[in-house]
Amino acid sequence: MFTEEIESYILSHIDEEGDLLRALNRDANVNLLRPRMLSGHLQGRLLKLFCRMMRPQRVLEIGTYTGYATLCMAEGMETGALVHTIEVNDEMEDFIRKYLSRSPHQAKVRLHIGDAMEIIPQLDETFDMVFIDADKRLYSAYYDLIFPKVRAGGLILADNTLWDGKVIEEVAPADKQTQGILHFNDKIKADDRVEKVILPMRDGLTLIWKK
Ligand SMILES: C[S@@+](CC[C@H](N)C(=O)[O-])C[C@H]1O[C@@H](n2cnc3c(N)ncnc32)[C@H](O)[C@@H]1O
Repeated sequence: MFTEEIESYILSHIDEEGDLLRALNRDANVNLLRPRMLSGHLQGRLLKLFCRMMRPQRVLEIGTYTGYATLCMAEGMETGALVHTIEVNDEMEDFIRKYLSRSPHQAKVRLHIGDAMEIIPQLDETFDMVFIDADKRLYSAYYDLIFPKVRAGGLILADNTLWDGKVIEEVAPADKQTQGILHFNDKIKADDRVEKVILPMRDGLTLIWKK
C-alpha cells in the first residue's frame, strides 16, 4: 500500500521491533516459505499498542505462523494475562517454540497446534481481543465461532481484508480465498452488533468493536 520510501520513513519513526523479533523476521525470510505472512515491524507495533490500550486479560490469535504477532501482543500485555494462539501447521511448532523460549513474555503465550475450527470450541475463555489471521476461506466461520466468546466492548481484528486489492477486482470462480474475504467484509458491514473500520495499512486490517 505504501511506497518503499514511506514505509522506511514510518519504520524509522516508530518504536523498534527489538532484537528477538528482528532475528525471527530474518530467520523467517531466509528459511521459511511465504515469510510475507508474518505481521512485521509496523503491524506488530500496532498490535502491541492495541494491547497496551485495551489491557486485555485474554487474547485469541487464529493463525500463529511464526509467532511474530503473538510475541508482539504478549509484549503489550500485563503479567498474568494470556494469549491463546492456534496454528494448524505442525511443521511450524519448532520454529515458534524456538522464539517463544527466548522471549521474556513466553509465560503469557499458550500455543495450540491444530485446526482452529476444532480448538476454539474447546477454549473455555471470554476474550477481550481476537486476531483473525488464518485461512481466508474460513474468516466468516471463525467470526461466528468466536463472537459469543468475545466480551461486550471487546475488539476483533481481521487481517488481509483488502487481500492485495483483489476485493475490487473481478473474482475468478475458483478463487475461494478472495470469495471468503468478500463474504466476510459484507457480513461485518451488515452486522449491527459491532462498530467497524477498515484500516488501509499493509493488506487491510479491519477493526471490529463489539457493542
Ligand atoms: C498469515 S499467517 C499468520 C501470521 C501471524 N498471525 C502473524 O501476524 O505473524 C496464517 C497462518 O494460519 C494458519 N492456518 C490456516 N488455517 C488454519 C486453521 N484452520 N487453524 C489454525 N491455523 C490455520 C496457516 O498455517 C498460517 O501459518
